[in-house]
Amino acid sequence: MTARDDAPTQAQRRRTFAIISHPDAGKTTVTEKLLLFGGAIQLAGTVKGRKSNRHATSDWMELEKERGISVTSSVMQFPYRDRMVNLLDTPGHEDFSEDTYRTLTAVDSALMVIDAAKGVEERTIKLMEVCRLRSTPIMTFMNKLDREGRDPMDLMDEVERILQIRCAPVTWPIGMGKRFRGVFNLLDDQVHLYDANHQGAIAQGEIIQGLDNPRLDEVLGDQADELRGEIELLQAAGNAFDVAAYRRGALTPVFFGSAINNFGLQELLDRFVEHAPPPQPRETATRTVEASEGTFTGFVFKIQANMDPNHRDRIAFMRVCSGAFEKGMKIRHVRIGKDVKIANAITFLASDRDHVETAYPGDIIGLHNHGTIQIGDTFSQGEALKFAGIPNFAPELFRRAVLKDPMRMKALQKGLVELCEEGASQLFRPLTGNDLIVGAVGALQFDVVAFRLRHEYGVECLFEPVAVSTARWVYCTDEKMLARFRDRQAENLAEDVSGALTYIAPSRVNLQLTEERWPDIEFSATREH
Ligand code: G4P
Repeated sequence: MTARDDAPTQAQRRRTFAIISHPDAGKTTVTEKLLLFGGAIQLAGTVKGRKSNRHATSDWMELEKERGISVTSSVMQFPYRDRMVNLLDTPGHEDFSEDTYRTLTAVDSALMVIDAAKGVEERTIKLMEVCRLRSTPIMTFMNKLDREGRDPMDLMDEVERILQIRCAPVTWPIGMGKRFRGVFNLLDDQVHLYDANHQGAIAQGEIIQGLDNPRLDEVLGDQADELRGEIELLQAAGNAFDVAAYRRGALTPVFFGSAINNFGLQELLDRFVEHAPPPQPRETATRTVEASEGTFTGFVFKIQANMDPNHRDRIAFMRVCSGAFEKGMKIRHVRIGKDVKIANAITFLASDRDHVETAYPGDIIGLHNHGTIQIGDTFSQGEALKFAGIPNFAPELFRRAVLKDPMRMKALQKGLVELCEEGASQLFRPLTGNDLIVGAVGALQFDVVAFRLRHEYGVECLFEPVAVSTARWVYCTDEKMLARFRDRQAENLAEDVSGALTYIAPSRVNLQLTEERWPDIEFSATREH
């Protein structure tokens, strides 16, 4: 069978998702344990790039020294049962939120990890808002039950109230902290006993079938009846698991456990591969692309420069949406209208960088980018498609890049263009003058860019305040009008890294006045790639 013929079946096997959580809730630990269950690693504690989402700049930079290793874990593929699971990592720091946003456009579902002692935290709320935009189905893991935490009923109430999604417990904890004894699986009517003594490997605690099994009273004592009471209450008053509602993003199945102790995650993974959606249809500007279509399509949702400092390469991450990708295949780079032969795409199997032979819908492949690929680009087998919904956000902070050694101007420009292609920071070149203005959503980005310019491009540069307070992409169907606007407002106009015209406003008031003065010009806070 050819890869193309096999594509619809392979697509059905794929489950592509990301983890959303507040820093410290346990995303890294959960990732590691999922890889352990997937057989991708043998013992827990081997995932590199731990702490990649620590908060301080210095930690991030420390991590950058191990960049080649750490960043490859941005996509992890592993087989589980008869499925192929793709887990896309999202950067933890809030300054990278656009990157996270775009990664969430490339998944079909998400796993929300919550620290049971802390409940719903701020970053989870934000990420949930992003998921809601596309009604992304979400499973929930309540983590750290081996510690004293909040009452499980309260936790679910909080999720329902703050995140506006119904909770359906699939497992239910038996005690917590010192009294944590395991979980009861409401769908299987089974108790899974907790065994803290696993030494990093997968340990299967005792399974007891049936809530009225006398063995429960033997091992749990008083906690057996407590459990029976709670389950009775849940069955009377709680939400039952409903696959359709989950798939619509209206209900989240909830699992309890302790990631660090490998406990409770297997229940989750089993249900995940069973119920999480396979690759979903995707909208383009002209039509909907089904994952089962025979011809290849894909879009780029992330670009990473210099992943491996020894090779100084830039990788574009492409999600396959339909058909099959095969090594050596020619595909159409739709935006520039060129066919390109892809001989050495990268796959991310078990967090190793490997060369792709074949990739199917839901899979992510890495393309070597020599400056021609941008975030949001569509690839096809000839059809002029453009996948929708991968936005660029107007930055909130602006600085002017000032070079310490004027002889390094070329290197500075090259560095800024390449780093800004990644999308976390954006480069604006005013139509008048020679300034290089960098915009970012968070202040940390300027430190990161300065640091990377020094280390990856050998350029010393400072970021100085500049009189720009906000930016808007400008559009107008009337070309004459646009030309007039361009002419009159030249001193406040710039081109972004892709050449799109942007109004860089010295103040909010100025923006407002200009908008009023030019009613036929559209000022947009996002640019669809
Ligand atoms: P993050 O990626 O979401 O930021 O979280 P990460 O997995 O790094 O976990 C944050 C902290 O919570 C880590 O502790 C980790 O060991 C701990 N943790 C994760 N899962 C559990 C759990 O099930 N139970 C308990 N008790 N702790 C858990 P740390 O002290 O910050 O780091 P480390 O020294 O353990 O590496």
